[in-house]
Amino acid sequence: MPSNCWDKVVPHYLDFWVPRLIPYHEDLVRKSVPRPGERVLVTAAGPGAELLPISRAMEGRGELVATDTSEAMIEHAKQLIGPAEIKMPIELRVADASDTLGRRWDLIMNAFGMWQLEDRIGTLSAWRDALADGGRVALLVWGPPDPDGPFELVGSSLQDLEPALGEHTRRRELAARESMATMLEQAGLQLVRHAVVRNVMEFGAAEGFFKALFSGCSYVQFAETLGRERIEALAQAFYARLSPPSPRTPLSFAPAAAIAIAERAG
Ligand SMILES: C[S@@+](CC[C@H](N)C(=O)[O-])C[C@H]1O[C@@H](n2cnc3c(N)ncnc32)[C@H](O)[C@@H]1O
Repeated sequence: MPSNCWDKVVPHYLDFWVPRLIPYHEDLVRKSVPRPGERVLVTAAGPGAELLPISRAMEGRGELVATDTSEAMIEHAKQLIGPAEIKMPIELRVADASDTLGRRWDLIMNAFGMWQLEDRIGTLSAWRDALADGGRVALLVWGPPDPDGPFELVGSSLQDLEPALGEHTRRRELAARESMATMLEQAGLQLVRHAVVRNVMEFGAAEGFFKALFSGCSYVQFAETLGRERIEALAQAFYARLSPPSPRTPLSFAPAAAIAIAERAG
């Protein structure tokens, strides 16, 4: 997926997703505990919503750097942190998640960006190499899956109608403790903490959820591949799985997200 896909979706991402992700960012901060004075690298930071709770936890002291491959996302992060009264300088740079900027870090974080990375193990290995003594990596990813959750119902509809693409929806299974531990191990990291958190997410109507999903880059590629008619068929298959089965069904659910904290192995 070209990273500039994210350049195009910034307004949708800000409207639909950022407000719903903030409680998860706060969970990530609670579990990974960025401390005053630490050197913290936030990768795939997007528009930077997680920087607010991170900087609060750091009490304005230390080194906070955020990177993302999307110029538009970084541009937005600059606008966000200006008026947000963050009491510490934050360095914002366009860079790949694997780029540790030639520095040592006490904490390297990634919120909802792992499955965007083509070489996850290579990136995790680069993070391991850049950790200071006692340093940690903190990840936040969607999953494990809830069989009846709206994300999964779109996934099962996709699997039924477009089996060639359905594989994508299995990403959430990688959030389970064992899968995370295995992935981290392959990069020379050891899982020291795994927690599943949930926050309530509401959409006034299922069609709003479907639209939001297909305006993010994880799904936008499907929209391009399938075209309008097949996407409409997918939407109808999703609505048919709801109770009541209608595009107007309101959705209230609490999707699981896994937080993994890892240290250098050995
Ligand atoms: C779902 S957004 C998450 C943004 C933010 N962390 C949050 O929680 O709102 C995924 C982000 O990953 C970024 N991204 C995709 N591939 C990347 C890569 N190889 N290196 C760094 N960032 C990447 C995208 O530009 C996008 O901003």
